[in-house]
Amino acid sequence: MGSSFLTKFAYHTLQQGKSLAGLAHKEVSTKLMELVFPDSKSTDLPLKRRLLLDLRKSMQKLENLDWEEAAKGVYPKTQLFDAPWLEWAKNYPLVWLDMPSTWNRRKNQNTRDIPKEIDPKSYPDYYLQNFHHQTDGYLSDHSAELYDIQVEILFNGTADSMRRRVISPLKQGLANFKDVQANNIRVLDVATGTGRTLQQLKSALPKLDLYGIDLSGSYLKQASKHLSKCKGELVQLTKENAEKMSFESNSINGITCVFLLHELPREARQNVINECFRVLKPGGVFVLADSIQLSDSPQFSPVMENFHKVFHEPYYRDYIIDDIEARLANAGFTNTSAESHFMTRVWKTIKAKNN
Ligand SMILES: C[S@@+](CC[C@H](N)C(=O)[O-])C[C@H]1O[C@@H](n2cnc3c(N)ncnc32)[C@H](O)[C@@H]1O
Repeated sequence: MGSSFLTKFAYHTLQQGKSLAGLAHKEVSTKLMELVFPDSKSTDLPLKRRLLLDLRKSMQKLENLDWEEAAKGVYPKTQLFDAPWLEWAKNYPLVWLDMPSTWNRRKNQNTRDIPKEIDPKSYPDYYLQNFHHQTDGYLSDHSAELYDIQVEILFNGTADSMRRRVISPLKQGLANFKDVQANNIRVLDVATGTGRTLQQLKSALPKLDLYGIDLSGSYLKQASKHLSKCKGELVQLTKENAEKMSFESNSINGITCVFLLHELPREARQNVINECFRVLKPGGVFVLADSIQLSDSPQFSPVMENFHKVFHEPYYRDYIIDDIEARLANAGFTNTSAESHFMTRVWKTIKAKNN
């Protein structure tokens, strides 16, 4: 039996384990919430058997592609097993301890419970909310510490596989700069959060000059902690608004942006896309990953509806009917293509050379 077969088996077993753990966590926590707050019975739509089977199939397809791309060398196989297990084990009890306050906010529809010391003038108004009913929104170290494990649970262990779908289109797009030395190729991850995508890029493309921005200082601190443990050059992280970045025009070769757009109102969504166009060099590539939408995955509409109902996601409903291709074209992008992978849609688009 080859070592590759064993690694593949280990990867699928790990994913199954993560998926079961995520499902079990959600089942138990929902039951507990209904016990503690009987009047906050879950309002989500029951998912039909056919839909559950389709979800399972789509998840398996993602898992297979994740393995195939690793086997082809798009990124190292070690990435498939990469997670801060010890840290997650340490933080998991904190997720439980945090839950009653989350349930309380959800029950009372309290969506603006942000730390008192935060100066509201430093952030756009749409940002000062408890997305996912998260304690402190994105604005505390506590929130940043729990974020990764919460997202793992939310997506039943597939969050990193979905994020990894940006690597292949990014590499294809960067081929436009094949005559440029790797350490002169600048790639920016917009709204990097705790830096999971940057960690993946660093391991897949170790020689590139990597940058990350986010509006949350606490999330960037977490990103810095993880990235400093990875081999290679330092990654530059800055706290800034993706609607108005400090990068010079025509200065970046490639941009990734993962799971940001659904958390923005329409105008901000367009502003971020315009800004990515501005800072990209002519010939540069923009790879955008976010939730699937009603037009590409109508079969999963009950899942999208539940996501919006159960979590505080004030702009999600508008996002799933938004025409992202039109927004990209409006900003000036061309050659746009898109693919769906389980719960994620990935767009690849180019700033044409004559811009
Ligand atoms: C759902 S998280 C996604 C984080 C990360 N990309 C990931 O894959 O986990 C959304 C992130 O967008 C950041 N964010 C929201 N609005 C922003 C803005 N206008 N400018 C920069 N970052 C923003 C938040 O602080 C948060 O880290």
